[in-house]
This record gives sequence, C-alpha cells and structure tokens, in this order.
Amino acid sequence: MSEDVRRMFANIAGKYDLLNDVLSLGIHHSWRRKAVRESGAGEAMSVLDCACGTGDLSFEFKGKVGESGNVIGTDFCEPMLELAREKAKEKKTDVKFEFADVMNLQYEDNKFDISSISFGIRNVDDPRKGLQEMARVLKPGGKVVVIEFGQPKGFFSLIYKIYSKTIIPLIGKILSKSDFAYDYLPKTASKFPCREDFLGIMNSTGLLTNCRYYTLSFGIAFLYIGERK
Ligand SMILES: C[S@@+](CC[C@H](N)C(=O)[O-])C[C@H]1O[C@@H](n2cnc3c(N)ncnc32)[C@H](O)[C@@H]1O
Repeated sequence: MSEDVRRMFANIAGKYDLLNDVLSLGIHHSWRRKAVRESGAGEAMSVLDCACGTGDLSFEFKGKVGESGNVIGTDFCEPMLELAREKAKEKKTDVKFEFADVMNLQYEDNKFDISSISFGIRNVDDPRKGLQEMARVLKPGGKVVVIEFGQPKGFFSLIYKIYSKTIIPLIGKILSKSDFAYDYLPKTASKFPCREDFLGIMNSTGLLTNCRYYTLSFGIAFLYIGERK
C-alpha cells in the first residue's frame, strides 16, 4: 500500500502544486494560514512538517517562527522532496527537507514544539501510528496540527459530491496525466474519518489531550489540533 502511494505521488509531483491551486481555486493557502495561526506558532519555535510534499505548509510555518526558528519538512517520496528543496532555494529560506516515513520518524522524543501534517494522514497506512509518532517527538504541551479532507454536511454536500466525483478526476487526469491519482484522492477523502471520528483517533494515541477541530470551507476539510501530554 505505502509503496503504491509513494509511486503515485512520485508520478504527479511535477503537477502537484498546479493541481492544488486549480482544484481548490487557491483556497488551500488560506487553510494553511489558519492552521499556522491556530497552532500558536511563534518566534524561535521548532516545527516538524510531516508528509510535507512540495513544502507549502513548511514554508508557511517558517514565516511565523522566523530566522531564529527551525522548520524541517519530511516526506517518503523523493521527487516531492526535490521540488520542496528547489522552492526553498527560490525563496532563499533555510527550511530543511529530509526523507522520513511518518510511521517511523528518526527524531528523538521531546524535540519539537509543533508537528504537522496536511493532506497526508489519510494516505498513511496506519494513521494512529503516524499520529503517535508525531506526538512522540513533541515537547510536553507541544501541538500536533493536522489538515485533512472530510465530508461536508447539509446543502453544500451534494454540490461538493458532484464536484469531487466529476470535475476533480477529469481536471486531475488532464493536468497530471495520471489515470488514477485524482480518482484515488477524492475517493479516500470521501471515506476518511472526520470531525469527532478523527478526534477519536487522536485521543486513541494516548499521548494527546485537548484535541479539537475547526471546520474549513463547510467541511471540505478540517483542521485538528491536539496537545502533547
Ligand atoms: C496529498 S500530499 C500532501 C503534501 C503536502 N503536505 C501538502 O499539504 O500539499 C500527501 C503526501 O504524503 C506523503 N506520504 C504519504 N504517506 C507517507 C508516509 N507514510 N510517510 C511520509 N510521507 C508520506 C506523500 O508522499 C505525499 O507527498
């Protein structure tokens, strides 16, 4: 499973940023800004951004923790990391990008103030194990920050269902040239636990407290934050 996921992201890496912007009409940037705001990130903090892809959330955190802060972006897909490193060069920022599987992080306990993952946790074979690892590397009181797709409720849910079952796969296929990646992405999003169900997974790690969520754009996505016990 994780080998298939890695291969799929390697195939679409070059078109990933373009597709994010097109398919979300640029809204994903405002979700990332909200995540950083609500995380309480501040000057000189250290952040581990897991499954960072091309690094957009890592760069957003760097803007907040400043020169004296430290951000490491990690992913298990080298083509994604390469693009993130190129972007870091362009932006002249010292965000580091390292290879890591979120289910088996190479970092010591109590190292970071914040660990984050955006649109990555639903691709991880065992999300609970991934969250446990993200919590393990935090200092007590540190924050786990997750952005993930979910299922909107109410009037908007039908519109979004049609959009995600027709437009996303079609535009995704045309732009990424992948036959299945943009089928897979909305399909997994339509089933992935959200709201209280996801909080249940966070709580089941036994390492997090005060877990809460914020609804983003009517429930297309959610921001989850928990604190390291
Ligand atoms: C949808 S992309 C999200 C990328 C980025 N975080 C963003 O917000 O745009 C999912 C990323 O998760 C990575 N990924 C999936 N499973 C992983 C794992 N077990 N460990 C590390 N990265 C993983 C993939 O390689 C891919 O880059």
